[in-house]
Amino acid sequence: MLMKINDYYELAKNTLSEKRYIHSKNVASAAVRLAKKYGADPTKAEVAGILHDITKEYNLENQLQIIRSGGIILDDICKNSPQLLHAITGMVYCRDELGIADADILNAVRYHTTARANMSLLEKILFIADFISDERDYPDVDIMRAESEKSLEDGMLYGLGFVIPDLVHRKRAVHPDALAAFNELIFSLT
Ligand SMILES: [Fe+2]
Ligand SMILES: [Fe+2]
Repeated sequence: MLMKINDYYELAKNTLSEKRYIHSKNVASAAVRLAKKYGADPTKAEVAGILHDITKEYNLENQLQIIRSGGIILDDICKNSPQLLHAITGMVYCRDELGIADADILNAVRYHTTARANMSLLEKILFIADFISDERDYPDVDIMRAESEKSLEDGMLYGLGFVIPDLVHRKRAVHPDALAAFNELIFSLT
């Protein structure tokens, strides 16, 4: 089943709370803007943006059901970090329920929370767009926005440099994919 972009907005509107729908719309807009600026496909960026949190409000049981039906084997960190599951189940939902076959869109959704090493342009764009969407108002969001205008790598580095210590302070596990993304960025500086 292939849908038009407007159908994805409609789906997100009907699936998500108003707050998260607004967030998803804003992420889609930010992703389109970044795609145009950095030479990625704006349509793919918009699809990934509007759908990236599509399963975030599903309960744990539903998330695990999607994981099973999607044939996903969870690693130990994901097993113990429910907040990471929606990126995986979002990918499975896009692939299996919506029939989205584009690997880049699917990977962008899949890695929008942890990031990973060797990210594509689109993957970086969605990761960053999720941080800088219009409604975001955490301290330093302006710095994150400015870094993202310098380059995607600067944006990624700032985003991961915020998220990893934040997890440490809250005594939460850090997914190895996040560390791999961070280390790769650090090595690229030298
Ligand atoms: Fe998310
Ligand atoms: Fe999000």
